Amino acid sequence: MRVLVTGGAGYIGSLAVWRLLALGHTVSVVDNLANGSLAAVQSAEDLAGRAADFVQADIRDTDLLIRLLRDVQPQAVLHFAGLKSVAESVALPLRYYDHNVQGSLSLLRAMQETAVRRIIFSSSATVYGQAARAPFAETSPIEPVNPYGRSKWMVEMMLRDFCAADPAFSAVALRYFNPVGAHPSGRLGEWVAGAPNNLLPYIIGVVQERFERVRIFGDDYPTPDGSGVRDYIHVLDLVEGHCAALQVGPGFSVYNLGTGIGYSVHEVIRAMQVACERAIPHEVVERRSGDVAISIADPARARHDLGWQAQYDLMAMCRDAWRFAEQHPNGYGRVAAGAS
Ligand code: NAD
Ligand code: UFG
Repeated sequence: MRVLVTGGAGYIGSLAVWRLLALGHTVSVVDNLANGSLAAVQSAEDLAGRAADFVQADIRDTDLLIRLLRDVQPQAVLHFAGLKSVAESVALPLRYYDHNVQGSLSLLRAMQETAVRRIIFSSSATVYGQAARAPFAETSPIEPVNPYGRSKWMVEMMLRDFCAADPAFSAVALRYFNPVGAHPSGRLGEWVAGAPNNLLPYIIGVVQERFERVRIFGDDYPTPDGSGVRDYIHVLDLVEGHCAALQVGPGFSVYNLGTGIGYSVHEVIRAMQVACERAIPHEVVERRSGDVAISIADPARARHDLGWQAQYDLMAMCRDAWRFAEQHPNGYGRVAAGAS
């Protein structure tokens, strides 16, 4: 297949680029490099032994996307490009609606104009409401509680409406749970500039002595050890989920991508201690506002419809994440300055 990957210079997108290339697909990448790196695309190419085309551009530029789609004529678009910080979305909501919603609208317009009729969209488990009870099925109540989550939900609704209007169009929204891990070679993974919000990158920062200790946000949740429980999923499993989703359609579909297994903050710290063979200082602090006690996927629909099931366990996630961190103590080096 010819596939266009938006956000293919980012964490998950670059692993998808590697996998698509390795499977023999022809891959074009569009990324504005606001939070991505050309070095990630280069590593993906090296690992796959094949090249992708790269265009540095913003998906909000519809005219450029139309030219690109005409040129590439992809059979599918994997749409990763977007902003992903919950905290930043609360402070700068318009920025999130601009990049995530307006960006997706621009992409859909360009796809409509060029008759490209298949998209796979990176949604998030954050669309599930606080009232939903884990494990979350795709039918669980939706009520995102922050602008980031609302931007994902808006795009899902846009895709659903668009599919209803064009029966030949195929759109798959994949609701990721907590993606972690890296390529087992240690050459592709996640690096966060500054203090990470997410647990695993923060733990790694403590191991690298960039931060003093892990702050465990609350130990009085109704969970076995009182800390928050999440469904961590290896990024390799996530990428396989995208490959499986390429077969779906037409129409609008939505799938959870999670393992169905939850781990507490304490369990993640313990697993990482084993993976990096050293003690990780930590302390319990106040709950973080907006956190739910438990977020776990019911992955049955993806298993049934896509034949997809996560393969990797928490130890593999920690080992691979740590291998990448050891090889990239400063990330990929140059990450372009943030765009508007
Ligand atoms: P990332 O920041 O590493 O990758 C996103 C990429 O998109 C970056 O390379 C960035 O430069 C690019 N980008 C952003 N805005 C753009 C624009 N307007 N035009 C062109 N390129 C743009 O993030 P990631 O972790 O790889 O996440 C990929 C997708 O998955 C995002 O849409 C994110 O919201 C979603 N997601 C991520 C997580 C997670 O925990 N990582 C969880 C759920 C959903
Ligand atoms: N946690 C800590 N200390 C930290 C960071 C996190 O104790 O320094 C805890 C949190 O309280 C939570 C767990 O670790 O219990 C996981 O927190 P993350 O921030 O890693 O992940 P979240 O589940 O809160 O959020 C993630 C993404 C969101 C996405 C959501 C989907 O960051 O973008 O999953 O469920 F929307």
